[in-house]
Amino acid sequence: METEINKAPLYFDLNTGAKIPSVGLGTWKASPGVVGQAIIAAVKAGYRHIDCARVYDNEKEVGDALKELFSSGVVKRSELFITSKLWCSDHAPEDVSKSLSKTLQDLQLDYIDLYLIHWPFRTKPGSRGWDPEVMAPLCLPETWAAMEGLYASGQARAIGVSNFSTKKLEDLLKFAKVPPAVNQVECHPVWQQPALHNLCKSTGVHLTAYSPLGSPGSWVKGEILKEPILIEVAEKLNKSPAQVALCWGIQSGHSVLPKSVNESRIKENLSLFDWCIPPELFSKLSGIHQQRLLRGDFAIHETCSPYKSLEELWDGEI
Ligand SMILES: NC(=O)c1ccc[n+]([C@@H]2O[C@H](COP(=O)([O-])OP(=O)(O)OC[C@H]3O[C@@H](n4cnc5c(N)ncnc54)[C@H](OP(=O)(O)O)[C@@H]3O)[C@@H](O)[C@H]2O)c1
Ligand SMILES: *[C@@H]1O[C@H](CO)[C@@H](O)[C@H](O)[C@H]1NC(C)=O
Ligand SMILES: *[C@@H]1O[C@H](CO)[C@@H](O)[C@H](O)[C@H]1NC(C)=O
Ligand SMILES: *[C@@H]1O[C@H](CO)[C@@H](O)[C@H](O)[C@H]1NC(C)=O
Repeated sequence: METEINKAPLYFDLNTGAKIPSVGLGTWKASPGVVGQAIIAAVKAGYRHIDCARVYDNEKEVGDALKELFSSGVVKRSELFITSKLWCSDHAPEDVSKSLSKTLQDLQLDYIDLYLIHWPFRTKPGSRGWDPEVMAPLCLPETWAAMEGLYASGQARAIGVSNFSTKKLEDLLKFAKVPPAVNQVECHPVWQQPALHNLCKSTGVHLTAYSPLGSPGSWVKGEILKEPILIEVAEKLNKSPAQVALCWGIQSGHSVLPKSVNESRIKENLSLFDWCIPPELFSKLSGIHQQRLLRGDFAIHETCSPYKSLEELWDGEI
């Protein structure tokens, strides 16, 4: 991957003309009871971008926190960038707008800044989990057309996708009337995704990195913060490995979504904008052994799933 050595910018431009803040707060696994406080702490600390999803089961509480922030005058709605995602069971065109309406109702908002298709994967309406019984054929053109309808109505100011491989994104770009503004994928120094990075750059699709710290606290147990090359670079810069991982993403042109419910990490983790990784250390990071951490094994099934193998799910990018 070529290195783009600049100070980490606060915002990136989307192909809609809007700006997306380069650091967003992740809310996956932030349980009800703590997510509201985390959002209030984050916005007070300066975060302007919140990453939500219907399937995280906490949008109501996120909405209450947003309401409190707006009514106490901490921020205005127009200063925040809020993302949510269409779950796999809501791909039928008639469900797409219902699903966004429910999200908007829970978040107590009248528009969303970015609405993403959560997965290149479809399950039967009303279903929740990954039981092979509930899988249904993906029909992206009809789902994307419904997403374009939300964009046209102004309820979603940008639309995009998540977990799309290079091939799936290329296919979508062929038939999309409104090109996706964002592809949100796993990306960090241990899974750098150079091919996808280059495609996104050349087609004007912004790449947002989820699990930018490797999801250390979850079942994923990514150990990227213990990666020796990352630690070596962090020590040279007198920064934490987490800060170097996040700054690597932003210097690569990606927005990053670190999740934390710990106020001191939330605060400190925004200290990314008054330093940068110099070229000689940035290129050192390309020497890190590469590994996809969130592989999606649960979506593979020999008969029921459209994807019989991880190779097929990620079109060889595994
Ligand atoms: N589109 C998708 O399919 C998709 C998939 C996965 C994730 N996402 C989004 O991306 C967000 C982030 O991903 P993620 O939650 O998987 O993982 P992550 O941000 O890579 O890691 C979060 C974990 O790291 C811990 N942590 C935070 N700061 C730390 C630090 N400075 N040092 C050590 N540990 C630290 C957090 O614990 P504490 O909370 O205790 O600080 C938490 O356990 C999600 O919340 C979600 O919004 C999207
Ligand atoms: C935040 O900063 C603190 C101290 O500088 C560090 O320990 C932590 O790992 C950082 N986390 C992130 C996500 O940058
Ligand atoms: C919050 O983060 C700080 C700094 O990384 C750490 O010292 C502290 O133990 C964390 N608190 C909790 C409750 O995990
Ligand atoms: C994106 O893909 C990963 C599998 O690689 C999966 O774990 C994750 O759940 C997907 N996004 C979501 C939250 O559905």
